[in-house]
Amino acid sequence: MPSEKTVYLPDKNVAKNAHISSFAQYKEMYQQSIDNPEEFWGEIAKQFHWENPINYDKFFTFNFDVCKGPIYTKWLDGATTNISYNLLDRNIRNGHGDKIAFYWEGNHPDDYSRLTYKKLLEEVCRFANVLKSKGIKRGDRVAIYMPMILESVIAILACTRIGAVHSLVFAGFSADSFSERIIDCQARALITADGVWRGEKYLALKSICDQAMDKCAKNGHNVEVCFVVSHLERVTAPSGVQSNQSNKTPMQDGRDIWWHDVVPQASTSCYPEWMQSEDPLFMLYTSGSTGKPKGVLHTTGGYLLYAATTFKYVFDYKPNDVYWCTADIGWITGHTYVVYGPLANAATSVLYEGTPFYPQNDRFWGVVEKYKVNQFYTAPTAIRALMKFEDSLVTRHDLSSLRVLGSVGEPINPEAWMWYYKLVGGEKCSIVDTFWQTETGGHVLTPLPGATPMKPGAASFPFFGVQPVLLDESGKEIQGEGEGYLVFSRPWPGMMRSLYNNHDRYETTYFSKFPGYYCTGDGARRDADGYLWVTGRVDDMLNVSGHLMSTAEVESVLTEHRGVSEAAVVAKPHPVKGECLYCFITTNGQVEFNAQLVTELKKIVRERIGPFAQPDVIQSAPGLPKTRSGKIMRRILRKIALNDRDIGDISSLADSSVVDQLFANRPISA
Ligand code: PRX
Repeated sequence: MPSEKTVYLPDKNVAKNAHISSFAQYKEMYQQSIDNPEEFWGEIAKQFHWENPINYDKFFTFNFDVCKGPIYTKWLDGATTNISYNLLDRNIRNGHGDKIAFYWEGNHPDDYSRLTYKKLLEEVCRFANVLKSKGIKRGDRVAIYMPMILESVIAILACTRIGAVHSLVFAGFSADSFSERIIDCQARALITADGVWRGEKYLALKSICDQAMDKCAKNGHNVEVCFVVSHLERVTAPSGVQSNQSNKTPMQDGRDIWWHDVVPQASTSCYPEWMQSEDPLFMLYTSGSTGKPKGVLHTTGGYLLYAATTFKYVFDYKPNDVYWCTADIGWITGHTYVVYGPLANAATSVLYEGTPFYPQNDRFWGVVEKYKVNQFYTAPTAIRALMKFEDSLVTRHDLSSLRVLGSVGEPINPEAWMWYYKLVGGEKCSIVDTFWQTETGGHVLTPLPGATPMKPGAASFPFFGVQPVLLDESGKEIQGEGEGYLVFSRPWPGMMRSLYNNHDRYETTYFSKFPGYYCTGDGARRDADGYLWVTGRVDDMLNVSGHLMSTAEVESVLTEHRGVSEAAVVAKPHPVKGECLYCFITTNGQVEFNAQLVTELKKIVRERIGPFAQPDVIQSAPGLPKTRSGKIMRRILRKIALNDRDIGDISSLADSSVVDQLFANRPISA
């Protein structure tokens, strides 16, 4: 396996034609972006349409220091624009009307379609007009709970056309989680589909939405209109499974509307709503360490520049390339690198509905071959799951079109990196290990294809405009080699501006620990060559298959069970998921800790949060290791999860005998 010193140089053919073809060029551009952000981003902004022109005196202002007043970031203040206009009308004017925006590949290989830029604009305008006809207007929030289908992109862009703020929720979240998010943002409208097949699994999306809307109503919030795409009828169900599920879709009079009943007859033109650069574009919930999800708010002008620029350089996208990001549209990666970044570059992308394993475990490679994909972007958890299968599943496909391979969502381990690099990339692709967050809006640390010598597992260097700093516990900057808190000392255009309706929480969560810096919540190490290696979360967050969740959120669900008095959750390393949930449960004497309880607890987590949050291990904990002040020592619980008896100093424990008991209680399967 490669060591920290192993370096892979970019392939000569990748470097020769790359937008940024040497490390020296990267460094020069980076320095310019830091020394003169107005000029750097101003030049990029010229490619886009600004209805109200840019005022260079107010191009970029910010305050990151809570001691100096409220935290804020503003880019291109005063300029107005419309994102859908820039992604669609502008590209059509530039001659890309007949270019394919998306190749849609269904769950079943027999299902596929495509959409040009011209057609996409028409569909966006139609749906924007429908939204308007239902009274949805600038500033209103629209909740979206959709599968990976073309209407999802249309719905997103239709919101931006009229200035409504979209709030997507990954269609794997439970009705409870969804309703909590709808209520928090007070969404007036909801957009969904009847259902979807993911592999051989059927997801009844509309009925989850119905449950969510019922819960909202019980909490005093009524969703006024719910649009439903009839998707099931047009797709092929997995063989042997009942196909026409849509007959069963219940529709509520006066609230629910089939997409096909209103969209086809709507007008294909819709004048764009000109938005201020700092007007909200969308919000997207991410887990908070206190348990309550945070509505991360992104705004218009800066986000557009950042999505466009990161997409172009990090994937080295060229006009005739075909790009594919496997992320779900319900996560930030889907927002920035399925929708906004590619469309801002008039790119052609693949939009894939299914899983890597259906109908066979080589589906990803079959799709790469089918569309001659040049840039492929996925998560380490998928890579780890796929590398378990025999190599021939990869090698039997022609993957010679690939030039750039991306990774996102969690650290990529060197084994997975090497497999990706050698087997999938044939040792001729650049691997871009992109570190970023829902909050950062786009890549912030990443290698660049053609420019950055690669070290397996290192997110490497900052993107343009990003100034990373490592801090020690006292807030002192670590120069040169060392490990510390990963923070940023200034905003880049695409960073979040606030938490929806909760600016105080924004300031305390991200800016109070180290005044003057945005705190990522991750740790990082800088090696002797200046490469940054993200070491993982420094707070109580877990990253399961690239899905971030907080220990508090899972613990509070577990303690809802009538038999549980206390719960503590820690992350345990997992060979495919990266991390999995290991839960310690103290019962309250009303129920016995047994297999039935374990099943019930797993079910509660699935129902309240979503299937992706299901714990791997639940063990009985008659007592938890606590300090005298009552704080749970998670460090010790992590050791117990690993069955590692080297637990270090336990002198601060109120009762150290619980440790032995917990080791003894480890389930055999753990
Ligand atoms: O811990 C980092 C991890 O994922 C977190 C952000 O999660 P989320 O907001 O859901 O966004 C995921 C997609 C951008 C980070 O705080 N993370 C993300 N990418 C990497 C990573 N950790 C290490 N290396 C990465 N490339």
